[in-house]
Amino acid sequence: MMIRRALISDIPEIVEIEDCSFKVPWPDFLFKAHLSNPGFLVYEDDRVLGYAIVSASDDKRKAHLQSIAVHRDYRRQGIASKLLEWCIDLVKLYGFNKMMLEVRENNTAAQLFYSKNGFIVEGKIDGYYLDDNAIVMCREI
Ligand SMILES: CC(C)(COP(=O)(O)OP(=O)(O)OC[C@H]1O[C@@H](n2cnc3c(N)ncnc32)[C@H](O)[C@@H]1OP(=O)(O)O)[C@@H](O)C(=O)NCCC(=O)NCCS
Repeated sequence: MMIRRALISDIPEIVEIEDCSFKVPWPDFLFKAHLSNPGFLVYEDDRVLGYAIVSASDDKRKAHLQSIAVHRDYRRQGIASKLLEWCIDLVKLYGFNKMMLEVRENNTAAQLFYSKNGFIVEGKIDGYYLDDNAIVMCREI
């Protein structure tokens, strides 16, 4: 297994993971637009099993975990935790000491995952998604 930067050739497998993970999946062109970001990582073991995208927040003061997902058949094996660990190590190299994210209010599984990984709820943004509110979570890194 390895964690590495995403390549254009990974996009079809990433989109497959996306489609089995979200009700409103990102289309391939959005992933392509992130390929220049060094914080776009994949977890590969024969094939791509998960991905994560981390960038700077709008105010540039925190790292922003934009998305993370693992193929449905490979969950609860620690893959997302490893991807998150890599994202944290990477953004620390860029000088960040906090990470934040938004998660759908109805996505309790992801909220439990983030809590397990040290994130705490910082607030809520009503109507952040077209069909849901966002819970904002944050942690020191
Ligand atoms: C959330 C997600 C990324 C977690 O990936 P994963 O590889 O299964 O996570 P891990 O195996 O590293 O989980 C680590 C811990 O988080 C918690 N956790 C993870 N998934 C959980 C779930 N569905 N329910 C409750 N706790 C969960 C557990 O404490 C778990 O440890 P354990 O398996 O020893 O109990 C994955 O479920 C996923 O891709 N979901 C769909 C996409 C998504 O919602 N992404 C987040 C968007 S904000």
